[in-house]
Amino acid sequence: MAGERLLTRNWDTPDAVRLPVYEQRGGYKAARKALGMSAAEVVAEVKKANLRGRGGAGFPAGVKWGFINAAAPTKYLVINADEGEPGTFKDRVLMERDPHQLIEGCIIASYAIGAHHCYIYIRGELPKAAKTLTGAIAEARAHGYLGRTCFGQPFELEITVHRGAGAYICGEETALLESLEGKRGEPRLKPPFPAVVGAFGQPTIVNNVETISAVTHVLERGGEAFGALGLPGDGGTRVFCLSGHVKKPGLYELPVGTPLRTLIYEHGGGIREDRALKAVIPGGSSTPVLLPEHIDAPLSVDGLKAVGSLIGSAAVIVMDETTCVVRAMWRLARFYHHESCGQCTPCREGTGWLERVLGRIETGVGRDGDVDLLRNIADNMMGNTICPLGDAAAMPTLGFLNRFRTEFEQHVLQGKCPFGGRFALPAGWQA
Ligand SMILES: Cc1cc2nc3c(=O)[nH]c(=O)nc-3n(C[C@H](O)[C@H](O)[C@H](O)COP(=O)(O)O)c2cc1C
Ligand code: SF4
Repeated sequence: MAGERLLTRNWDTPDAVRLPVYEQRGGYKAARKALGMSAAEVVAEVKKANLRGRGGAGFPAGVKWGFINAAAPTKYLVINADEGEPGTFKDRVLMERDPHQLIEGCIIASYAIGAHHCYIYIRGELPKAAKTLTGAIAEARAHGYLGRTCFGQPFELEITVHRGAGAYICGEETALLESLEGKRGEPRLKPPFPAVVGAFGQPTIVNNVETISAVTHVLERGGEAFGALGLPGDGGTRVFCLSGHVKKPGLYELPVGTPLRTLIYEHGGGIREDRALKAVIPGGSSTPVLLPEHIDAPLSVDGLKAVGSLIGSAAVIVMDETTCVVRAMWRLARFYHHESCGQCTPCREGTGWLERVLGRIETGVGRDGDVDLLRNIADNMMGNTICPLGDAAAMPTLGFLNRFRTEFEQHVLQGKCPFGGRFALPAGWQA
């Protein structure tokens, strides 16, 4: 990692998960500061920071907080720690290495929106993060930082860690709320948005782990100073998840707006075995793929939009010249088919159809017209479903088709994978 580190600054400190060590390193000053301000002043600071949500949609956190009905007697803060987007692994490490940073952010955000109960909905497969957080919450309560009063101030807050059961769809905020309420994790129709009708029918703000961890630094430094580390309208630093065919995969905290090239070649050490770069998925598996010609794009909400993709969860997946993009897309389609909750026909049927057509193309039994069929299926899914999972499956399909159509056509024409794919077909799978 290089540059100024805020969210990851404690990662190399032994025992940073313990409250006294966290405090020695400046922790809990920001929450104390926030509790000495008015709630409106805290929201204003977060607005000034231009902190865009780190969960996927990139919505400005301060603006979202401003939507909550301040007069409602019961409100909730819900932290989205479901982290299921393929390629994304930052929230787990943020919770495992610096749980108090997240707890401090929860205190600040709860105070700002007037919530007295915060839920952290954590992915079932993250037992270590859940245990670490639970221990840190107990420690904070024992110190009087949580409970009937926080830091001796007349503000009451409880934090509950709620473990999910490993369904990707429970990362979608309304499915998460259903699951939190003990129901099947199926997305709700919006509107109403959670800020109006959220958990248990009450106004609720749902934010990602990294977004709320960053709030701690917004208050510590001041909104403007935090924002100035990034770009106008998209402030601060982000924790980028770099994976795939690079020499040094890992988590890199860098200013928003850092070029994709810098992340891959300077921090990631370049492509493995010095091969040529073929493609990059820049924001988690649901974001459209980019080509080598796009790697000077700034890693920001607008920077990636300008080249036809999305920043998403800032999970950058790098593919070198040996990658078969049909096979890569087939693998992703299998994931989305498996994770579709099945409520809407275009997603339930479309994801399965994409998986089957991609599978037959890759395994050498593709038919004339299959490439157009893929486009047709994806086009019909886009925008026609209750939640964005349908789009999340359609967008990368369209992205791969737009950028690599010839490679799909070659598979059909040659009746085989030109990359000589060696793999086992999933049990019981039929084209
Ligand atoms: C299928 C699907 C899965 C999602 N998974 C996650 C997730 O694991 N973590 C997350 O923070 N947001 C996830 N999101 C986005 C959330 O719905 C929501 O936008 C986010 O939690 C808001 O937090 P933010 O504003 O801080 O980014 C997902 C969205 C969709 C459609
Ligand atoms: S788009 Fe897919 S995952 Fe989302 S509600 Fe519809 S069927 Fe469920």
